[in-house]
Amino acid sequence: MTNLIPERKTSEEERFEDDYYSYFQAPENFTRYTPTSSFLDKIFEEKPFSLLDLGCGNGALCKYLPVRCDYLGVDHSELAIEECLKLYPNRNFVAKDLSLFLSQLVEKKQKFDAVVLAGLLFHSVDKETEEKKDDVEIIQFCLDKILNDKGYLAIVVPFAYGNHPSHNLFVRAKWLQNSVEKMLEISKAKIVHENISLQIGLDERVRQQKVIPDWFISDSNADYSSAFDGTYMATWTFIACPST
Ligand SMILES: C[S@@+](CC[C@H](N)C(=O)[O-])C[C@H]1O[C@@H](n2cnc3c(N)ncnc32)[C@H](O)[C@@H]1O
Repeated sequence: MTNLIPERKTSEEERFEDDYYSYFQAPENFTRYTPTSSFLDKIFEEKPFSLLDLGCGNGALCKYLPVRCDYLGVDHSELAIEECLKLYPNRNFVAKDLSLFLSQLVEKKQKFDAVVLAGLLFHSVDKETEEKKDDVEIIQFCLDKILNDKGYLAIVVPFAYGNHPSHNLFVRAKWLQNSVEKMLEISKAKIVHENISLQIGLDERVRQQKVIPDWFISDSNADYSSAFDGTYMATWTFIACPST
């Protein structure tokens, strides 16, 4: 199967500047975050737990986390972190590249009960060079060095799909499931929970934005021959723990 991952037309910083990512905060987008927040809320019962949100964007996950969660969001976009601090003044955020930040955590021997990678896999880049980071390396590092022994890694993979045989929900969902399961297998992680959720009605909200994301096709006669076309969004959530 051909590569179903989109080429990004703008840098992350430009996306934050022009409001491209405001749809993360839309109520219709809640299924992107709730499978993770509900799982963690249940598994840690009434107890407090620490959570590291890598590539936190505008911090939308915070909306769905219980108050007892000790949250830390990291993103290399300074604009994103400025927005986070305005939206969620009671939570902690750091503007830094994730590789640098993770190695500093190891130096300080700081670990977390949960690490979340939401919308980060396939899109993690070096800000200066735009060079892609190795997803398996990130997963492996988090499992081995950042998670507590009884910790959980949540991988949230949002994706767009359209009404075309090679871009329909089933094809894209299956391709992503295979890709992420393979990465977790290489990293010797144990998958404890999987969920796929559709974001019904998000298309309406996207139409109202200043900037329309390039995955959004408002016309059903659109040309689906390019690599990343689709009108609807869905999200895969994978929750894994270290296998030992
Ligand atoms: C698609 S957004 C997802 C935002 C958020 N996790 C969510 O799902 O609402 C990806 C985010 O990862 C950040 N990012 C990408 N590569 C990064 C890196 N190497 N270090 C830190 N942040 C990174 C981007 O700036 C962007 O905010």
